[in-house]
Amino acid sequence: MSKSISPVEYGLEKIFEEAEDFLPLLGTDYVELYVGNAKQSAHYYQTAFGFQPLAYSGLETGSKDRTSYVLQQDKIRLVLTTPLKIDSPIQAHLKKHGDGVKVIALWVEDARQAYEATVSRGAKSFFEPQEESDEHGSVVRAGIHTYGDTVHVFVERRHYKGLFLPGYRAWNPSYRPSPIGLKYVDHMVGNVGWGEMNQWVKWYEDVMGFVNFLSFDDKQIHTEYSALMSKVMSNGNGRIKFPINEPAKGKKKSQIEEYLDFYEGPGVQHIAVATNDILSTVKALQERGVEFLPPPPQSYYDAIPERLGAHNHMIKEDIKELQKLSVLVDADEEGYLLQIFTKPIQDRPTLFFEIIQRMGARGFGAGNFKALFESIEREQAQRGTL
Ligand code: FE2
Repeated sequence: MSKSISPVEYGLEKIFEEAEDFLPLLGTDYVELYVGNAKQSAHYYQTAFGFQPLAYSGLETGSKDRTSYVLQQDKIRLVLTTPLKIDSPIQAHLKKHGDGVKVIALWVEDARQAYEATVSRGAKSFFEPQEESDEHGSVVRAGIHTYGDTVHVFVERRHYKGLFLPGYRAWNPSYRPSPIGLKYVDHMVGNVGWGEMNQWVKWYEDVMGFVNFLSFDDKQIHTEYSALMSKVMSNGNGRIKFPINEPAKGKKKSQIEEYLDFYEGPGVQHIAVATNDILSTVKALQERGVEFLPPPPQSYYDAIPERLGAHNHMIKEDIKELQKLSVLVDADEEGYLLQIFTKPIQDRPTLFFEIIQRMGARGFGAGNFKALFESIEREQAQRGTL
């Protein structure tokens, strides 16, 4: 693959102006995963990823059907929820999908308005606006369905001073491994079924007022064996970015198809989290046992100067240091980015994490797609799913 595609070439600023402001979004509020054992998952996210314990809800707080642990690292909030009863819808979700992302919660000024604006434009309701309160104030939330069984929950917390949400209490264990420099959710990627990408692109445009600011077809995203297509959707202020992938035909099975088979349908493929210092963050993750995709071949690093051409001079990091940790690099007119991808974080080959450091570039590492997908294919081959 040749050089990266720059948002500037796509007239990004102009495109953002076209985004509609009927749904002002302040940022990602939290990401909720349904997991088989929230207590143990919480330990993993603390130990391996350096998330800090924040809040808890369960039998002791009057929650009879579920337990949730809330963890935080800078602006990233993860909620890990597990069902306590057989007849819980969370149980059905787990049975079908395994561990995975259920809720991408979006922080808004006015949750009722966000709900009305999106439902009137065709969103399917998940739950109507509801106000919850405790001694710290009140929070209004409302939810809509997006692809698969995934939902968006709008969270209005301007009248709330508590730790997380009403119904939660402080979670204060003595065990607190240190943070590793994760800052905020950069983007979250959804995998959808064959021929469904454009449907969901249109849904994010019509229902959420998002714009499509980058597109990659299967001619750009392919290896010798497999292919996929991807379109990146963004809200007007650029804080929320959702690339949407669909599988494409290749000689062998697309990684997106493998995901769809094991997740039993569309869902969140990866959560990209930003750091200001990818070298120290990745070193810490490796020491704490997080597994990354196999490194690209030596030829990937040898080819960096030629691939980045005139942009090569921007790279401040020593390429040898990047290679030691298998970090990938890409650049465009605006700057460069460094990124690396974990292996799936549960036994099904579904959800994984991306660690990204943006040094001005606003793309998604298109120049790395080929190396990345070849790494994934080596893993797929071992799983017998290529
Ligand atoms: Fe990504």
